Amino acid sequence: MHLISLASALILGLATGPAAAQDAPRWSFAIHGGAGVIERANLSPEQDTAYRASLTRALEAGSAVLAGGGSALDAVQAAIEIMEDDPLFNAGRGAVFTAAGRNELDAAVMNGSDLTAGSVAGLTTTRHPIAAARAVMERSPHVMLIGEGADTFAASVGLEQVDPAFFFTERRWRGLETALRAQNLPIPARPAGAPGPQAETRLSTPPLNERKFGTVGAVALDSQGRLAAGTSTGGMTAKRWGRVGDVPVIGAGTYASNRDGCAVSATGDGEFYIRASVARDICARIALGATTQAAAQAEVDDALSLGGTGGVIVMDLAGRPSFAITTSGMYRGAVSSSEPARVAIYGDEVLRP
Ligand code: GLY
Repeated sequence: MHLISLASALILGLATGPAAAQDAPRWSFAIHGGAGVIERANLSPEQDTAYRASLTRALEAGSAVLAGGGSALDAVQAAIEIMEDDPLFNAGRGAVFTAAGRNELDAAVMNGSDLTAGSVAGLTTTRHPIAAARAVMERSPHVMLIGEGADTFAASVGLEQVDPAFFFTERRWRGLETALRAQNLPIPARPAGAPGPQAETRLSTPPLNERKFGTVGAVALDSQGRLAAGTSTGGMTAKRWGRVGDVPVIGAGTYASNRDGCAVSATGDGEFYIRASVARDICARIALGATTQAAAQAEVDDALSLGGTGGVIVMDLAGRPSFAITTSGMYRGAVSSSEPARVAIYGDEVLRP
């Protein structure tokens, strides 16, 4: 295990310690808003506060569903929709741009109780990609839909469609310009309908080195013992050629299985998470007897050994959330029937209200 991973595993593991010492919760919920080089020196106090407030709002959306006896799937969708609408995260509104200056959105959801799954890639007009992924799962005979056809399907089942400019944020546009300049690639015209250039504020400036992360995800165990996982992302800044990452690849960035006793949502360098089959492998390790924390850390370390950094959140059948990263931070949080909403950002930080 790499040193940073070892340190992170110990600290992030401690974050779940008190929960493990209590009676098993009736329901439990955890989220992430992306992992990366997220350090105190890179985040302004305003940004730190804003991320914690956003994470708490998403946790509250999920816990409201679960506390009312709702399903793990509904909780996952509710929290992810909040984060998709929040410009702080690289999903929905606030997604990164392709090299051509578009927002192409990916999402996936999986229901652990019956192993049904749905995913979408390259959406440009559907406001909530996670809702589209769920509709693919529940209202189509397929598992994965892409591009224009996926948006057409989402519209056909009544999901809200928006002008692509809805997803535009100045912050991500600046991130695109920086990435394209670094690669000596041309900078496209601002998208039709986008507002004119705006001044960057301290809040809207991306934290240093955070330009390719910010994927969001959620994992849940509901009061009927059902597990579910979901993930949503804009992918990678300046992506080209129809690039799709790990998020909509079931078993790479997203997986849930009551049979194996796990729900997983990943964030990080998608290419490596696909090659390492991170989410499915975590479940296989748990089914073979590994602890949730050990399985999560082993898999992110495996992706790191191939060259990819990032993190995962995992929920098990006892309602224990685990967090593992190979980076210096991950926006994350957890709540359960026995513990209040708690969030953390930096790798050396325990979850706290
Ligand atoms: N993990 C998000 C992506 O690579 O697209």
